[in-house]
Amino acid sequence: MYKKIIVFEGVDGTGKSYHINQVAKFLKSKKIKFIKFREPGGSSNSEIIRKIILKNNSSLSKESDLLLYLAARKENYDKLIKPNLKKKIILIDRFVDSTLAYQHYGFNINEKKIKYLNNFVIGNLKADYTFLHILPHKLLAKRIGGKKNKYDNYSKKFYEKVQNGFIKILGKNKHKMIIKADLTKKFNEEKIINQIKKLLKIK
Ligand code: TYD
Repeated sequence: MYKKIIVFEGVDGTGKSYHINQVAKFLKSKKIKFIKFREPGGSSNSEIIRKIILKNNSSLSKESDLLLYLAARKENYDKLIKPNLKKKIILIDRFVDSTLAYQHYGFNINEKKIKYLNNFVIGNLKADYTFLHILPHKLLAKRIGGKKNKYDNYSKKFYEKVQNGFIKILGKNKHKMIIKADLTKKFNEEKIINQIKKLLKIK
């Protein structure tokens, strides 16, 4: 059985959270053990950190944000990932690649420093499979709106940089699937569930 880490990545508003929930429902229907959480957030301490980071009028610097994302990840590693590793499937809504895409490609924080800190927090642990949700450039701005948190105030240009970052990071990774978020939810859901079946070797 494939008891690995499956991550859902992509810029805001691309339907990642919908698809991770559909995968969770599917695994439940098959009685396959899994845990599911989001980053930032997840463990109870990480959910507290999430509120601090995403507060609309937050005046934290981009470096402070980075350290908080990693603090939240460390809590998830200790409390959710480590105890379940190789015991259950671990589904995560955003993980390491989000930190590189947003904090490096979006906010220009040095990539090596981010990788060093990430290694300090989770060692060499990596996602085993990633579903990367992308949007055509002309739809990026439309989908983003809504102002749920401070990131919803950033420009289309920012999201282009972040999305291009995701594409660069995952470009050569064979263990990924690109999900075109402008196609229908139903089509993408079928594609994702079929891939999950393949990974798990089930029908
Ligand atoms: P959230 O509302 O969870 O976004 P979504 O539902 O679209 O996934 O907000 C999480 C925000 O945090 C999102 O804008 C991306 C950002 N983020 C980073 O900048 N770095 C990180 O390492 C992580 C995990 C998230």
